[in-house]
Amino acid sequence: MSTDVVIVGCSGHGREVYSIVQAVNETGARQEAVRVLGFVDDAPSERNLKLVQRLDVAYLGRVDWLRTAPAGTHVLLGLGHPGVRQRLGRRIDGYGLPAFSVVHPDATVGRDLVHGEGLVVFPGARVTTNVTLGRHVHLNQNATVGHDSVLEDYVSVNPSAAVSGDCHLAEAVLIGTCAAVLQGRRVGPGATVGASACVVRDVPDGTVVKGVPAR
Ligand SMILES: CC(C)(COP(=O)(O)OP(=O)(O)OC[C@H]1O[C@@H](n2cnc3c(N)ncnc32)[C@H](O)[C@@H]1OP(=O)(O)O)[C@@H](O)C(=O)NCCC(=O)NCCS
Repeated sequence: MSTDVVIVGCSGHGREVYSIVQAVNETGARQEAVRVLGFVDDAPSERNLKLVQRLDVAYLGRVDWLRTAPAGTHVLLGLGHPGVRQRLGRRIDGYGLPAFSVVHPDATVGRDLVHGEGLVVFPGARVTTNVTLGRHVHLNQNATVGHDSVLEDYVSVNPSAAVSGDCHLAEAVLIGTCAAVLQGRRVGPGATVGASACVVRDVPDGTVVKGVPAR
């Protein structure tokens, strides 16, 4: 028996997600192996198609392929940008397929983590205690999320960014690479925190902040 999964997005992020699934299978920790049926993508570049082919995984076609997916197929959103993931995720929700969650074996997550479906945790990421993550949250390489924080649906924490304790990141927030969000801060829905920024005050909805301190 296996759990069948289709990855949405042939780009680098999607292929990284595929490598996390492979790493999970290699540990043998799951009772059922995860079988990746292939990738779907509405507009894959020639380069990305070649790179998918190199992985020996099928390109199944456009995202609508999922409408006729075999019963029991799970979806993994391999899209790095929260806004894009949110848009496609909402569309795919209409197809009624469950989403798969995957945590790289070299990541650590608190035993009391509460999360929605579609979670992706990359190698080296650390999530401590009493953290709540919504649907389709992606925590990239070496990202950290401190105690009692809440990250709503479609949030991305990019590589090496640090979200301190008691933070609240609203839906589809992007925390850029190496950024820091100080303890207790709130980042409004759809906001972007630039790479290497330091968030010392709450960030209003839909805004882009950058620099130290972030403005
Ligand atoms: C902040 C950010 C969202 C701005 O994007 P943008 O609006 O396209 O910005 P631009 O590249 O047009 O740059 C606009 C200005 O902001 C500056 N800038 C861009 N990113 C910055 C950052 N992270 N910190 C400080 N200044 C930055 C640019 O130098 C430029 O300055 P100038 O007008 O004086 O020349 C983006 O640069 C960023 O940091 N995104 C996070 C990306 C990330 O995490 N990538 C990793 C993927 S794994």
